[in-house]
Amino acid sequence: MEHRRSLPLIFLFLFISLLSLLGSAQAYKNYTVGDSLGWYDNTEKSNVNYQKWADAKNFSLGDFLIFNTDTNHSVVQTYNFTTYKLCDYDDALDSDTKIWSAADPSNTATVAVTVPVPLLKEGTTYFFSSDYDGDQCNNGQHFKIYVSHGKGLPDSLKSPSEQAPAPNSPDYNNDESAPDIVVPSNFNNPQGGDHKNDDDDNVKKASGSASLYVNSIMVLFAYFCELL
Ligand SMILES: *[C@@H]1O[C@H](CO)[C@@H](O)[C@H](O)[C@H]1NC(C)=O
Ligand SMILES: *[C@@H]1O[C@H](CO)[C@@H](O)[C@H](O)[C@H]1NC(C)=O
Ligand SMILES: *[C@@H]1O[C@H](CO)[C@@H](O)[C@H](O)[C@H]1NC(C)=O
Ligand SMILES: *[C@@H]1O[C@H](CO)[C@@H](O)[C@H](O)[C@H]1NC(C)=O
Repeated sequence: MEHRRSLPLIFLFLFISLLSLLGSAQAYKNYTVGDSLGWYDNTEKSNVNYQKWADAKNFSLGDFLIFNTDTNHSVVQTYNFTTYKLCDYDDALDSDTKIWSAADPSNTATVAVTVPVPLLKEGTTYFFSSDYDGDQCNNGQHFKIYVSHGKGLPDSLKSPSEQAPAPNSPDYNNDESAPDIVVPSNFNNPQGGDHKNDDDDNVKKASGSASLYVNSIMVLFAYFCELL
């Protein structure tokens, strides 16, 4: 009978669709802030619109924001709306605000930096550059995001002391200290329009063992369908 042969194929199709849906929902992502424009105020890059950039994305625990900028701009994260609105962390509490990359205003020559920021807490959080008394923040260098649970934090990010210094770690609020998370090595020129970040966000598959597991299930399922 016709339907006895096609039914298992339909089930297989649905099964594979479901698996790939789950796979994409569960992958951790790295989002390059501003894509190829990087992290600058609108006096330096007139067409930046970080809120528009952020509003087109869904952020989850374990994702990273990658800030490509230079030492004339900072990366400040806060959970405090007042701090965000003021564009100023001077009175911020250690528990709700973190300086991921501090600017060095004494720098005569700016240096390119890449600052990866893991999303460690569910809910609304805010980012801005605090430099020049909030001028850069007021000139468009700020945005807010909502972080949903997703698949939760990966093991590598679960202990904040391991990979991500807590906001009350010794170098917090110390503008002089070099941020230890700055990774300039794989970074070229943030101002050039031709580097690799034009592509959409990198998708990191959950893990190799998970896809092996999925493959095994599909083979077993296909075998099962043959038997029907
Ligand atoms: C974000 O999630 C909403 C609601 O689940 C969905 O409609 C939208 O397409 C998602 N956007 C992206 C870029 O994944
Ligand atoms: C640093 O930023 C300030 C304010 O955004 C700007 O006026 C100044 O020209 C910048 N300096 C360098 C060296 O880029
Ligand atoms: C937010 O930060 C301000 C200082 O910028 C502080 O006065 C206020 O208590 C903080 N709010 C909360 C809810 O922690
Ligand atoms: C995302 O960024 C983090 C921090 O730089 C890095 O460890 C990880 O390998 C990146 N993942 C992808 C898929 O690029």
